[in-house]
Amino acid sequence: MSKLKIGILGSGAGSNMQSIVDAIEAGELDAEIRLVMADVPDAKILDRARRHSIPCRYLDCAPWKTKLEGPAEDLCISLLKEADVDTVVLAGFMRIVKPGLLGAFPGRVINIHPALLPAFPGVHGWTQALDYGCKVAGVTVHFVDAGTDTGPIIVQRAVPVMEDDTPETLHARIQVQEHIAYPEALRLIASGRCRIDGRRVRIAPPQS
Ligand code: GRF
Repeated sequence: MSKLKIGILGSGAGSNMQSIVDAIEAGELDAEIRLVMADVPDAKILDRARRHSIPCRYLDCAPWKTKLEGPAEDLCISLLKEADVDTVVLAGFMRIVKPGLLGAFPGRVINIHPALLPAFPGVHGWTQALDYGCKVAGVTVHFVDAGTDTGPIIVQRAVPVMEDDTPETLHARIQVQEHIAYPEALRLIASGRCRIDGRRVRIAPPQS
């Protein structure tokens, strides 16, 4: 059991970061958020971090639009290391992370994806599920590997797809579960009960 030292990368609203902050503040997650970085200068996730006095900054990832590579990746890694981060949490980070970051934090980069993987990787997983005609959708928290949304799964939570769902209503229902799933996955990691075993994440029973 050890307190997680978390670094968060995001691009948008930061509601998942908020769920992690709330879990920590409620004493439900033994962790500390040591740094938040966003690749969008006015991303709301940075405002949220400031409101909670969490160190945060914009990370300029140009010239690439969809990945974290080159000098930006190097800077990202050195800032995370300087902040003494041991677990990197991708919370709505709209870029593909590359072997540089994964190698710097082996087995310690986590992502949340708004679909029940391996179905519907990539962008707008909820819209893909709706368009496909799924009756059930959901969320996956997983370790990140070299593929896109392919790493070992830690937690999944399902939601029903309703007759009158739009992409927005379905995404909102999924987000409610995201905000439960991310703290839950991080709690499992903090407890030391999670072990990657090939494709599977083995979860040991809680110690009494
Ligand atoms: C979430 O739906 C997450 O699953 C996806 O991007 C969205 C981020 O939302 N990867 P937020 O910025 O945490 O509010």
